[in-house]
Amino acid sequence: MQSAPLAINGGKPLSSEPVLIHKPMITEEDIQAVTEAIRSTFVSGDGPACREFEKQLSAYLGVKHVLFLNSCTTALDLAFMIKDFPAGSEVIVPNFTYTSTALGPILNNMKIVLADVRPDNGNLDVQKLESYITEKTVAICPVDYAGNPAEMDEINALARKYGLYVVQDSAQSIGSKYKGLYTGNQADVSTFSFHGTKNMTTGEGGAIVTNDDTLGDLIKVMREKGTDKYSFLTDNVTRGYYEYVNKGNSYVQSNINGAMGVTQLARLNAMNAIRKEIAEFYLSELTGIEGLDFLRVTEGADSNWHLFGILVPAEKKYWIMDALRAEGVMCNVHYTPLHRNRYYKDLGTDEDFPGSMQFFNQLLRLPIYPSLTQGEREIVAEAVRKVFSQM
Ligand SMILES: Cc1ncc(COP(=O)(O)O)c(C=O)c1O
Repeated sequence: MQSAPLAINGGKPLSSEPVLIHKPMITEEDIQAVTEAIRSTFVSGDGPACREFEKQLSAYLGVKHVLFLNSCTTALDLAFMIKDFPAGSEVIVPNFTYTSTALGPILNNMKIVLADVRPDNGNLDVQKLESYITEKTVAICPVDYAGNPAEMDEINALARKYGLYVVQDSAQSIGSKYKGLYTGNQADVSTFSFHGTKNMTTGEGGAIVTNDDTLGDLIKVMREKGTDKYSFLTDNVTRGYYEYVNKGNSYVQSNINGAMGVTQLARLNAMNAIRKEIAEFYLSELTGIEGLDFLRVTEGADSNWHLFGILVPAEKKYWIMDALRAEGVMCNVHYTPLHRNRYYKDLGTDEDFPGSMQFFNQLLRLPIYPSLTQGEREIVAEAVRKVFSQM
């Protein structure tokens, strides 16, 4: 049967209302919790709702120290601030990531060394990783792209061999597991984002987590402008003041956002289960289409399906994106590799990063979020089939 003409060629779109690419799931419970926090008048940082959220997230992840922050970007900055590495020390960062992964080391006067990623899922290519290590390397910063955990066993083995610090940028992987444990358990320090696009949100927000007591104590000080206010509040010492004990910055998060963290976390597993259902629906509906492939899930990983990516023929990528949008499906491209951005252009590397370029040239993202209706899921699948059948 001849399918209907594509909307991009003047045909009727599958949906007149655009199916959005992402949408946070905010319920009455969130609104109620935020309202109560405001009514309590405790609106500033590190309040009772923040502490409650930290306690519950620590129990959920199974990680000892969980500190709520105003973003994942600040978490990455703190992850390096607490180590005080000598200026110019090198940190290996995947070339395919958001700028924040690299900003952590850069803000701490370190040098980033871009590493290539796997062309089939955008995560650090562990086969190439060792070739970036020099005598100046002090850390590796793997990213869990799309919520799919990086190959942490291989990364940690290299880190042990060379005595390197590992910061896992788990901005996208809250609720994902690697070899049976939630992300947050595999590195020296891990960072999460609760930005509005993520699987759970506090509006803006993030967390830094670690099982290391010394690092945990430093984080408590440095996120609170280098003061010992955290222990002043917790230990109820009656000296009447808190002291400035280190350098730091203002990275604590408001109690209003903390209240939303508690209610969102309570629904995280349920929200992630719906994402998984949608991913399985797309996989079953779209497997077998010629020229279309999916992102490889890391061995031993259980993804939170933060994003649903498809790999398409590179030369047709932008046409496919426009054709899907014309049908009413808001698909999108993602992350221009760092070395192609103005700020990162002059890193003194002549590598052309074939893995990240191949991945970037083929990647498109489809809508995936808990409030995506069955009808919308079917429109997405139908649009992909329609566009690919007339490519
Ligand atoms: C891999 C990665 N790291 C860091 C961030 C920054 O997160 P935030 O917006 O919470 O600072 C993002 C944001 O999308 C991200 O995708």
